[in-house]
Order: sequence, then structure tokens, then C-alpha cells
Amino acid sequence: MSASPHAAHYADHIACVESRLEQIVEVARDTFRIRIPAPDIAARAIPGQFVMIRLTDRNAPLIGRALAIWDVIDDQSGVPHAIDLVFVKKGALTTPLSQAAVGTGVSLWGPLGNGFSNESCDRLVIAAGGVGQTPMLMLARAALGQRNYGEPQASQASPRGENGWAKSVRIVYGARTADLLAGVDDFRAAGLDVRLCTDDGSVGEQGYVPDQLFLGLDEELSRDPAQRIRVVTCGPEIMMRKVAEGCQARGIPCEVSMETPMACGIGICFSCVAMVRETAGEPWDYKRTCVEGPVFDGTRIVW
Ligand SMILES: Cc1cc2nc3c(=O)[nH]c(=O)nc-3n(C[C@H](O)[C@H](O)[C@H](O)COP(=O)(O)OP(=O)(O)OC[C@H]3O[C@@H](n4cnc5c(N)ncnc54)[C@H](O)[C@@H]3O)c2cc1C
Ligand code: FES
Repeated sequence: MSASPHAAHYADHIACVESRLEQIVEVARDTFRIRIPAPDIAARAIPGQFVMIRLTDRNAPLIGRALAIWDVIDDQSGVPHAIDLVFVKKGALTTPLSQAAVGTGVSLWGPLGNGFSNESCDRLVIAAGGVGQTPMLMLARAALGQRNYGEPQASQASPRGENGWAKSVRIVYGARTADLLAGVDDFRAAGLDVRLCTDDGSVGEQGYVPDQLFLGLDEELSRDPAQRIRVVTCGPEIMMRKVAEGCQARGIPCEVSMETPMACGIGICFSCVAMVRETAGEPWDYKRTCVEGPVFDGTRIVW
């Protein structure tokens, strides 16, 4: 699998921004989408990257939290102006952030991490669980050629397929129950084949993401073994592990986006390490998820 396009740029290429919430919308149960004007970050971000964020006027939590970039928003003249983030209300940062009013001050730094690779394929299949769907809208839009991200910036939407690298994109997206699914309309509007599953069967198929993923893929691969499929996954570790191991067994390339807890986001503190091999089968070493990831080839992770 090729190196991601921006791996060399990380910590010396980030912007530190003091900004204010422009929008906050509850998009699912305990799940919020916020819009933050941050032109320097918006212009540089590529799919799979994230920002670290703090509430400016609060001491606690002192340490920022990582949030994936959901999408980049242009101003009226088509210049990248803001980023959208989607988060679930959980603890020290996300609880006050979910209650913050428009205009609340936020400090953020980014874009961070390596991002997904953009190797061409016939079908990109996304396996997302819980809040693991948050890096996937940008990825899908880029793969389908609807928009280019990052530098050099070509912010105009282009007709599907012109600049894209996947002929089609499917998302298999699961949550515990229906009202926790967030962003499904955005995925459908972007033209994805959306397949939902829930633990309780309240929407879509009842069951877990890896089972639904491979049910579809095995049937299609038996009909057309030559099609070039790529899988990307983000979500609970047990889900990513099953997806990565299932892909490895079938010889399907798979990238995983790790969500190890982070403190600095820029490679200094080593709080975010994961056990990663240089190449599949080699001995592992600790890799910093914030700068050497969060996206890794699934065969390299020691689960
Ligand atoms: C690269 C990356 C991207 C990410 N992207 C997203 C994203 O797009 N959206 C998103 O929502 N999250 C994302 N995360 C996770 C995010 O960074 C935070 O970890 C998460 O939002 C929780 O932060 P918090 O401060 O609200 O919770 P924290 O206070 O840090 O709590 C973290 C966990 O501990 C639990 N906890 C807190 N206090 C206690 C206690 N006293 N006893 C027991 N348990 C407790 C909480 O319930 C929670 O499960 C990402 C993480 C990484 C590394
Ligand atoms: S979060 Fe500090 S090194 Fe990764």
C-alpha cells in the first residue's frame, strides 16, 4: 500500500487557531456537529486527518481532545473557510462542548496525522462503527471525485469520476441502536451505497459490522473475483480487528484508522502509541498514532 500523501508534513505544517463556534447542531442522540471557522486548517486538511481541540476559556480539561474532520466548508467565493466536526457527548471535553453556545471560544491545532491513501480501486468499502464514521465523508467525497482536499487546493466540486479514484463507495455503518446513527443523510447525498446495521435490529440488518461487511463482499467477489476492492475501517478496536483480519484472510487491502487516546497530537508525548510492524510479519515497535497514523495498513497492527 502506498504511503499517504501528507505523511511527511505533520507537526511542522499545522496551524494553531483561536476561533469561535459558528454552528452547533444535534445530529443524533448525544451526537453533535459543530462548525468552526479555521481557513488555514480547512485549506490543508485531507481525508483521515484530525484536529486537537480545547475550550478556550476553561482550564479543564487542560489537554486537548482529537476529533476527526468531518468536512471542509467553503465561503461564498469557494475558498475553504471552516471545518465541521462530529462528536459524541462522553466526558470532560465533549460534555461542555455539547452545551456550548454559538460564539464560544475554541482553540484548535491541525490538520494532524497522515490521512488515508488514495490508491485507485473499483470499489471502496468503508466499515464504520459507533463514532468511527467521522473521517469517512471526506474520504468518500474525495474518492468519488466530488471534491479535492488539501494543498494544492482545488476547491471547486468536479464531476464525479473526473478526479476521483474509486468507481463506487459503499459504507457499512453500525451502531448499538437506530438513534445513534449520525450523518446517514450526508452519506446518501454523496452517492454512497449505505448499508446500516444495529445491535438491536432497530434499523438495517441486526448484527455487527464485520459480519455484514463480509457477507456482501464474499458474495460479490465470488461473482467477480477480478474487481479491485479496498477496505477502510474506523470504530471500536474489536470491530477494526475483525475487519482487518477478515480482509487479510481474503487478500483485500485494508487501512485502519486508530483512535488511541492522545495528549499533544504532534508527536511529543508518546501517549498515543500502538504496536505496529514495519511490514506485515516483521517484529513490531511502538508507533505514535498521531504522527505515524492514525491510518495504518491493517496487516501491520498487533491487536
Ligand atoms: C485520531 C482520533 C480521532 C477521533 N475522532 C473523534 C471524532 O471524530 N468524534 C468523537 O466523538 N471522538 C473522536 N475521538 C475520541 C476523542 O478524542 C475523545 O477521546 C472523546 O471525545 C472523549 O473525550 P472527552 O474529554 O469527552 O472524554 P474523557 O473525559 O476523556 O473520557 C473518555 C472516556 O472515559 C470515560 N470516562 C470519563 N470519566 C470517567 C470516569 N470518572 N469513570 C469512568 N469512565 C470515565 C468516558 O465515558 C469516555 O468513555 C477521536 C480520537 C482520536 C485519537
Ligand atoms: S499524542 Fe503526543 S505523541 Fe501522539
